[in-house]
Amino acid sequence: MTATLAPDLEQFLARNDKTAHDELFELLRIPSVSARSEHIPDMTRCADWVARSMRAAGLTAEVLPTGGHPVVLGEWRGAGPGAPTVLVYGHYDVQPAEPLDLWTSPPFEPVIRDGRIYARGSVDDKGQLFLHIKAIQAHLATRRKLPVNMIVLAEGEEEVGSENLERFVERNAARLACDYVVISDSSMFAPGLPSILSSLRGLAYFQIDVQGAAGDLHSGSYGGAVANPATVLARIIASFHDKNGHIAIKGFYDKVRPWTKAERKALKKLPFKDKTFLAESGAMAAVGEKGFSSLERVWARPTCEVNGMLSGYTGEGAKTVLPAKAMAKVSCRLVPDQSPADIEKKMKAHIKKMTPPGVTVTVEHLHGGRPWRAELDGPLFDAARRALKTAFAKDPVIVGEGGSIPVVGDFERVLKAPVLLVGFGLPGENAHAPNEWMSDENFVKGMRAMAALWDELRP
Ligand code: BES
Ligand code: MN
Ligand code: MN
Repeated sequence: MTATLAPDLEQFLARNDKTAHDELFELLRIPSVSARSEHIPDMTRCADWVARSMRAAGLTAEVLPTGGHPVVLGEWRGAGPGAPTVLVYGHYDVQPAEPLDLWTSPPFEPVIRDGRIYARGSVDDKGQLFLHIKAIQAHLATRRKLPVNMIVLAEGEEEVGSENLERFVERNAARLACDYVVISDSSMFAPGLPSILSSLRGLAYFQIDVQGAAGDLHSGSYGGAVANPATVLARIIASFHDKNGHIAIKGFYDKVRPWTKAERKALKKLPFKDKTFLAESGAMAAVGEKGFSSLERVWARPTCEVNGMLSGYTGEGAKTVLPAKAMAKVSCRLVPDQSPADIEKKMKAHIKKMTPPGVTVTVEHLHGGRPWRAELDGPLFDAARRALKTAFAKDPVIVGEGGSIPVVGDFERVLKAPVLLVGFGLPGENAHAPNEWMSDENFVKGMRAMAALWDELRP
């Protein structure tokens, strides 16, 4: 077992620490917001930047078109057919930065304050993608070789559902063939506590539109005599849960594979307190499905959450109006073995049943991703445990996750390779929110952990 990182790699990373930070800041300055069409030029600029940095690290790199934002594919195949092939995945796109006035410093002008790198995309996922590129560079620059063949796939559509990536993976299955997949796009359970993920939730995302009269009406002349779309939508939304926080959509839990006693017991052993959980989030109380702890609610149970609502008059003062339409965005987090297609059917049937006369309701499925849960054994996970201990001087814990990375299920299905999810974020890092940050210590140790991982995988 390697107790410390190989001296040549450590020396390289130490000597290039400033360059690594300068370059990361360059990457963070590109506003690669995948959701907004005005950022299309920034997306291609960012893809080109990532390709250049892969080439500087010693990989060959191509920017490949998809139906949407391009994929960047880096490769180094010099370890030969006898050595394992690893695919590292990350995403260079980021979430929109709004609301801008809540940022202490501008989202695309990275700064370090109190050991934290503040910028949109710092932790999700540019910092974590980039630390992989630098770990690879440490090997190729010092030794001219890696112990494994390497494929690095950086996509630009993760934050909008990875709609084009499934087809990309299917079409390029031969080129992407590998023994292991490694992803850093998640968080550690606590500061100083390296973590390996054993589960992700899936997603089924809907837009619900309720249409009433052809146009807005005077609420005095018509109110009480015709349907109000906002009220109808509120009733539909209220019908998603019963009073115990169970989801009341017929058949919603049919495919849910319960966690075993052993899994629930292991979860109880983690250092978790509702009090800290609430302090980190700023939430007032731990509220949710009856009979489950907060961690179980987030890791092991599916949800149905309203992400946004729109209807009627929301400006200053009062306006007596009966709105013609109402809209909500609603997403369900899924757990094994639920599927987005099946939940879509059940959601549509439920809403149809809940639709009263006087309105039309349309439900559109915007995007989905399958849930994932893994058995963590085999050489990849053993190597990861040792590599994390090398960098963090602590044995990693196994944790679940409530978020989603849509492509993970596709990697497993198409490439048939085990997926290691090892993230370097931290609780409270504000991903998707104002003042997103990545711990600088984790950026620095993450580079070392991943440099150590490739040594640990040496056949
Ligand atoms: N990095 C996250 C996934 C994640 C979230 C991992 C929380 C660990 C903790 C990823 O970038 C993300 O935000 N995924 C989206 C997927 C969606 C847009 C299809 C999510 O979970 O909402
Ligand atoms: Mn991410
Ligand atoms: Mn994200």
